[in-house]
Formats: sequence, structure tokens, C-alpha cells
Amino acid sequence: MSLLIVDESKCKQDGFCVRDCPRAIIRIKDKESYPEMVPGGEQFCLTCGHCVAVCPHDAMSHTKVPFEDCSPIQKELVINETQAVQFLRSRRSIRSFKDQPVEKEKIKELVEIARYAPTASNTQLVKWMVFNDKDTVREFAKLAADWARALLEKDPQSAKFPYVPGIVAAWDAGYDAVLRGAPALIVASAPKEDLNGTVNLTLALSYLELAAPSMGLGTCWAGILKGALLSWPPLQKAIGLPEDHTHHYPMMLGYPKAKYFRLPQRKPPKITWK
Ligand SMILES: Cc1cc2nc3c(=O)[nH]c(=O)nc-3n(C[C@H](O)[C@H](O)[C@H](O)COP(=O)(O)O)c2cc1C
Repeated sequence: MSLLIVDESKCKQDGFCVRDCPRAIIRIKDKESYPEMVPGGEQFCLTCGHCVAVCPHDAMSHTKVPFEDCSPIQKELVINETQAVQFLRSRRSIRSFKDQPVEKEKIKELVEIARYAPTASNTQLVKWMVFNDKDTVREFAKLAADWARALLEKDPQSAKFPYVPGIVAAWDAGYDAVLRGAPALIVASAPKEDLNGTVNLTLALSYLELAAPSMGLGTCWAGILKGALLSWPPLQKAIGLPEDHTHHYPMMLGYPKAKYFRLPQRKPPKITWK
């Protein structure tokens, strides 16, 4: 059975689907014909849904990307450039969280949005681990502080990780500089065989991060925890990444205490026009 389902009463044979297919596996044989998959094309289909999304006549469906599941783009929701710039520039790393748990439903919603991030060849192999218990998250921070302490003991200069002494000193003073008292932690991971695994999960986390403020939530990339996770067995054991998921990154999540009123400047881009 072909993957494509063409409604011939709606199709205008204009070839949008043919031209947009990233794998060039859709053809229209002649003027009288309708779009069809080239023989053997099924095995190369990315199930990306471009053929459905690009048809202006609602004529295309796909057995794995059904037309009914592809909601229409609402023109009134399209943002303009000024809105896009402010939206992107106003994203901030959150390092101070309210003592308030995050509703499971909200986290689910965030992950639902994050799964629309692109993945190389549309593989969609990213998995999510959600730790939604403040004490568990604090325990991870403690294990990372243990890792920092062990590093310091081994190499008091710890020049490779200049922030290491600070993590230990903060922890000893009762402050969690690793996970900032976040009530939740999300770890995105991808399997070893996913050649673009790190990029794929990073994009998914970026989507999640960008969506979070619209739900009143804030995030911060947990780079210190990631550092500890690379080499500290007690933390690896406690987090328990899926087997063979060599690509991974953690992100803090919670209700932010702070509000922001200005858009900080960044370094000018370094562009070489060739
Ligand atoms: C990969 C990555 C890892 C990060 N790790 C940490 C971290 O462990 N702790 C922290 O407080 N901030 C962390 N950050 C946040 C950066 O410090 C922050 O993005 C940068 O200072 C710019 O601030 P902004 O995100 O508010 O624009 C991380 C950011 C990235 C992209």
C-alpha cells in the first residue's frame, strides 16, 4: 500500500508536494496523473509530513502523517519580526526558583512542544527523564558537589574547572550552585547510534526552554551537573540514563522568582562573508 493518499477531487496537480519532498520520492508522471510515490520510495520516506503541509488544497494525506493530525497554520497566530526578536531575546536563564512544585501536566505539555524540534533525518529518537521531586533534584546537586570536592582533593588547583571551588564552598555554606534549588530536572537523551544525537536533544531542550515562559515556567541548562554526570559514577547511577544513551543534557525547571525588564546586549556577531 502506498504511503500517499491523494484526494483527486481536490488535487490541482500543481506539484508542490513533488518539489518539496526532501527525498524526491514523489512524482507526477504526466499531465493527467496525480502525485504518487516513485516505485520503492516508501523505504526512503522520512515521514516528515512536508507533502501534507505544503499542499494548499488539502488534497494530500500520508498513512503515517494523516491529514487529520496536521492542524492548519492559523494566520492570526503568526508572529512578526519584532515579536520574534523580543521573544527570543527575552529568554533568560533562571537561577532562582519559587518553592513551588511544577504540575506534571505542565511538564508533559512542555515535552509535547519540544518533540516538534527538528531531528536529523527526522529520526525523533530523543527520550526524556523527568525528576519532579525537589529532594531528588537536591540529591543530584549534592552528588555533583561531591564530584567537585573529589576533583579539588585530587587537584587543588583544579585549573581545568575554575568554578569547582565555588561549587564546594557554596554547598558547604548551604547554597546549591549546581541546580539552584530547582524543583524539577529534565534530562533529554539520545542513543549512541544517533549520529546527531547531541544536536537533536539540544534543539529539543531549546524548544522546551523557549516554550516554558509562556506557561509561567523558567529553565536553566545544567552544565555543571552535565560535567559531573560525565565522570561521577554515583551521579550516573542515581540518574540512571537509558542504556546506550550516550548523548544527554540536563535542564533545571521551575517557577522563576525573578522578572526581567530589559534585554541585555550580546557581543557583535563574527561573520566572514565569503
Ligand atoms: C550549555 C549550557 C550550559 C549551562 N550551564 C549552566 C549551569 O550549569 N549553571 C548556570 O547557572 N547557568 C548555566 N548556563 C546558563 C548560561 O550561563 C547563560 O545562558 C548565559 O550566561 C547567558 O544568560 P541568559 O541565558 O540568561 O541569556 C548554561 C548555558 C548553556 C547554553
